Amino acid sequence: MRVDGVAWRSIAADGPHAVRVIDQTRLPFAFATLRLESIGEVARAIRSMQVRGAPLIGVAAAYGVALAMQRDAGDTALADAHAALLATRPTAVNLRWALARMRSAMQPLPPAARAEAAWHEAGCVAEEDVAINRALGRHGAGPIAAAYARTRRPVHVLTHCNAGWIATVDYGTALSAVYQAHDAGVPVHVWVDETRPRNQGLLTAWELAAHGVPHTLIADNAGGHLMQRGEVDLVIVGADRVSRGGDVCNKIGTYLKALAAFDNGVPFYAAVPSPTIDWELADALREIPIEERAADEVRLVSGRDGSGRPAQVALADDATAVANPAFDVTPARLVTGIVTERGIAAPAELARLFAPARAAA
Ligand code: MRU
Repeated sequence: MRVDGVAWRSIAADGPHAVRVIDQTRLPFAFATLRLESIGEVARAIRSMQVRGAPLIGVAAAYGVALAMQRDAGDTALADAHAALLATRPTAVNLRWALARMRSAMQPLPPAARAEAAWHEAGCVAEEDVAINRALGRHGAGPIAAAYARTRRPVHVLTHCNAGWIATVDYGTALSAVYQAHDAGVPVHVWVDETRPRNQGLLTAWELAAHGVPHTLIADNAGGHLMQRGEVDLVIVGADRVSRGGDVCNKIGTYLKALAAFDNGVPFYAAVPSPTIDWELADALREIPIEERAADEVRLVSGRDGSGRPAQVALADDATAVANPAFDVTPARLVTGIVTERGIAAPAELARLFAPARAAA
């Protein structure tokens, strides 16, 4: 996607021994990139959320393995790289998926062949992410276009968190649908949930502004009210892990939006690239590890002060007990459709949509 007229990807090879990523902790006020040259730097960037978003952390981890293989391609180094990256964040299954793929590609090879093969494989994971998100967005634009065909007025889409191009290699997931509808001439307006405490909604607003998509930033609690007043035509969110039955684990607060959507008859879609589906899950509510993040993310807010300098203020003192679960699970019964690169499926039909590929795998 473009930033000030220049085409960017969220992660790209920067020569044969490093990757360049966008530092998401600097947005929306500053656009800055980081060069990551080692597995340690990749792991730190994922942990600190300089690199974030389920598909992107998977791709970054793939490159992390590749960088590790350039220093030491032995079996122990491969196992250590896998373990170190897997430990960075627990919830998005894309990380586990990408690491498993890298390990299966490396294990049969002699160590001397691994560095080059790993770099190539990581590049394939990145390119596939782009293709998947492009296809997924084409399908996801369908319900937006259909809402416009029905109403002949701008379509109001509500989204939560950031499921845009910076959360992936390119295009995004939920926002890929919005971009493709907008680019096809469908008038779209997006209600952007602020998404406390990390405020990923600000990243969404930044992306939408860069692409020229009309949008309005709202406090997280506003969505239900807007739905009651008929001001939301559909909700579309991303996902970090989805069960075969269509339960959707996504950024904390998604579940409440789904409940409000259900109560108000507003269609609720999750945009889900196939690497986000965890086919092994039996019970999403019990089995998905929900990341508990630092208390200071809730206690403190960051932004710019009156003179434009980065600033942090405390909302609560250190003695205040804080819980900070970063994700929640929306049960399939609240989900209208799962938007994938293969089309849109009702939650119960998701496994059928992928059945031939899974049988072949
Ligand atoms: O904690 P984050 O910012 O890495 O979480 C990412 C999300 O939850 C996004 O909403 C997203 O849906 C998944 S990425 C397309």
